[in-house]
Amino acid sequence: MISVILGLQFGDEGKGKITDFISRDYDDVVRFNGGSNAGHTVVINGEKFKFHLVPSGAMQSKMVILGNGMVIDPEELVSEIDLLKKSKKDIEIKISAGAHIVTKMHKCLDKREEAVRSKLNIGTTSQGIGPTYEDKYARTGIRLIDLSNKEIISNKIETIFNMKRELLKGSIYESPEERKKMVEDLFSYGNLILKYMDYTENIIYNDYRCGKNILFEGAQGGMLDIDFGIYPFVTSSNTLAGAMSTGSGFSFRKVDRVIGVFKAYTSKVGSGPFPSEIINDSTLRDLGSEYGTTTGRPRRVGWLDLPLLKYTTMVNDVDSLAITKVDVLGQLKTIKVVTKYTIDGNEIDYFPRRLEDFEKLRVEYREFPGWGSIKNQDSILSGGYEELPENMRKFLEFIEEEIGKSIDIVSLGEDRKMTITKQIFN
Ligand code: GDP
Ligand code: IMO
Ligand code: MG
Repeated sequence: MISVILGLQFGDEGKGKITDFISRDYDDVVRFNGGSNAGHTVVINGEKFKFHLVPSGAMQSKMVILGNGMVIDPEELVSEIDLLKKSKKDIEIKISAGAHIVTKMHKCLDKREEAVRSKLNIGTTSQGIGPTYEDKYARTGIRLIDLSNKEIISNKIETIFNMKRELLKGSIYESPEERKKMVEDLFSYGNLILKYMDYTENIIYNDYRCGKNILFEGAQGGMLDIDFGIYPFVTSSNTLAGAMSTGSGFSFRKVDRVIGVFKAYTSKVGSGPFPSEIINDSTLRDLGSEYGTTTGRPRRVGWLDLPLLKYTTMVNDVDSLAITKVDVLGQLKTIKVVTKYTIDGNEIDYFPRRLEDFEKLRVEYREFPGWGSIKNQDSILSGGYEELPENMRKFLEFIEEEIGKSIDIVSLGEDRKMTITKQIFN
């Protein structure tokens, strides 16, 4: 079985939790995009693990692979691997030789680019993600494989510095000694992480040929995709299913199933249009503890948005849906779901691309009664879907009808065990 799992909203849908849950059925879990802008939470019997770079399947699969589509902060990677090895000594970790490296200079550039954007700032995670992808596409980027050669690192650092000199004015990177120190640091990190480096496209292909089950894990969410998200308020990589191929070197033609994860409501970190946003009421944010895993920033919160979900389901060609945080949403007396987008009173049948369209956009809602807190937890977990509260089932069935896909996984709490499936995966 070859599957892809990804987020269908603005990130933080609970992909980490669902990836961990289903990864018991997979030998390898491969991350194909993003970097430590991602924050993925996995909770196992009350113990919390936060992954930023390492795939969230790490606690159950045999091997985790960080693909060439990723941008890797070596310092973060080393500390994450150290933590992981404490809980799971036998895990195999492989990192693509072609993955790009985030340096401290990229993080500085991230902040400075935001300052230049002024009012159009994105509210990035300041993890250096955008500038590292910029260098990748400018063909000046530092790849993992380069960390074995000090001269190559130094030449690339100088080229990047020269290209971005204006932006780096007044920063410590103007000093040649600082840049030299950065080269030394990167080389030292290379000594620590190059043992994980491999030509991972070969490993994935060989494992596929041996009949192994492989899960490809996307970071962020459809609405943060550089092409299909709400540009420019997006991340700098493709987050959609198609990116699994370019970000790993494994063909999309072999994919059996695309699993789309969405939250029972919507949350967003950073600036930009948010059609279903709830303004001036923090009830749902507080109930759902909606604060960033990476940045700690309060997340913006809104209702479930079906036009948005239909769009990301389409562009990802999702087969199977997983919903999270229904336990949180159900605590509200009345729940709203956005069913339509209108502009000048007319329903629109496309997802807008013009920022001005979002200003004119109005949404229509349908209301549902809540289902309260989950009381008969044990009977639900053993009895499955049929045991879910009636109001919750009506809500889920409405979504399935509107989206035209089955919700096969329902998450009722942060812990791995708080999960029910409609059909057995694999
Ligand atoms: P990701 O980026 O998509 O992996 O999501 P994050 O981990 O950044 O954010 C999701 C948050 O919701 C985490 O704190 C999870 O532990 C938590 N979570 C996931 N699923 C559920 C659920 O069904 N119910 C509740 N209450 N919390 C959940
Ligand atoms: P996971 O994988 C939520 C958002 C940032 C910002 C925009 C660009 O945990 O779902 P970047 O640092 O990528 O240049 O920021 O994208 N963003 C995320 N929001 N979850 C994420 O990852 C995100 N990764 C980036 O908040 O608005
Ligand atoms: Mg997250």
